[in-house]
Amino acid sequence: MRSNQIAFVLRVAKDHRPEKISRLTGVVTAIALASVVFFGSLPTVARAGDLENIAYRQNIMKTIDAQAAALGQILSGEVPDDQAVAHFESIALAASTALKSFEVKSLGGESKPEVWSNWADYSKRMLDFAQKSAEVARIGKTQGKEAALAMVLDALPCKSCHEKYRDANAKK
Ligand code: HEC
Repeated sequence: MRSNQIAFVLRVAKDHRPEKISRLTGVVTAIALASVVFFGSLPTVARAGDLENIAYRQNIMKTIDAQAAALGQILSGEVPDDQAVAHFESIALAASTALKSFEVKSLGGESKPEVWSNWADYSKRMLDFAQKSAEVARIGKTQGKEAALAMVLDALPCKSCHEKYRDANAKK
């Protein structure tokens, strides 16, 4: 719209509406236009807190991921294995915080909707993961790191859960 057309529209709006309403409409229109400029579309209705909830569970997963990667380095012989048990303990602790972060149903991120529609199965898998990794950390402390490293696959059921409940290609 050219600027004289905009001026005309504003003048008409002002002439035909009480001052307060036209100011309010102007504010609402400005917010809608600003969101088109910033987000490329009119605002969709997203529940407050969803983005934060998604970021929270992703942060927990990233913690687990980094500790699993450290164990991978140990297993490939890249680095000494002195701290193997501590890495298992870190995974167990992070895994114990994961379930809570999924309890709020915030659809999105890389989570498939099945996380919540199959909640009984999903939550059981997450609890099993937390319990098994804690058990392996305990075995490491009592029987030594070799015993714990031998159980690594049992302690890290990442792939089987991701295959069913995570879409890594989802738009974040
Ligand atoms: C019980 C199911 C389950 C288990 C077990 C599990 N994950 Fe996940 N993971 C998920 C789900 C669901 C997501 C998607 C979260 C989202 O984006 O909403 C995810 C996301 C991730 C992400 C992406 C985080 C990001 O930045 O977006 C990483 C990395 C990850 N998981 C690593 C792991 C590793 C490593 C393990 C095993 C040591 C593991 N996960 C075990 C369910 C699981």
